[in-house]
Amino acid sequence: MKKVLSVLAVAAMLCLVGSVSRAQDSANGEKTFKAKCAVCHGADAAGKPAMKSPSIKGKSAEDIQKAISTSPKHANLKSLTPAEVKDLAAYLATLK
Ligand code: HEC
Repeated sequence: MKKVLSVLAVAAMLCLVGSVSRAQDSANGEKTFKAKCAVCHGADAAGKPAMKSPSIKGKSAEDIQKAISTSPKHANLKSLTPAEVKDLAAYLATLK
């Protein structure tokens, strides 16, 4: 029984660590978003018709990577690292 409890305790701890690091990712992503994306996609990522930019709420890291590497609109975002892209996706996932 004791063993089961300690296994449960470890599992609970891992969950906690996981959700804290996810929150950290999305906080980092929010900073990058505000600095590099909000001008065109809007403060809430809902898109800006005047800029012809779509809503990017809930876009995945793959979507972002693809948009950055293919769209001329994102020409000066190619320096984003995979970690920054992942953090951006974590942030956009909170906006759905
Ligand atoms: C200079 C303005 C501009 C900036 C800055 C910008 N975007 Fe965009 N983005 C656009 C426009 C316009 C489109 C739609 C046309 C296109 O894809 O070329 C678009 C399309 C996208 C798409 C594809 C959406 C879809 O539904 O196909 C994603 C994802 C995206 N942007 C993510 C980002 C992220 C993440 C950032 C910040 C790191 C960013 N954009 C910064 C203008 C911008």
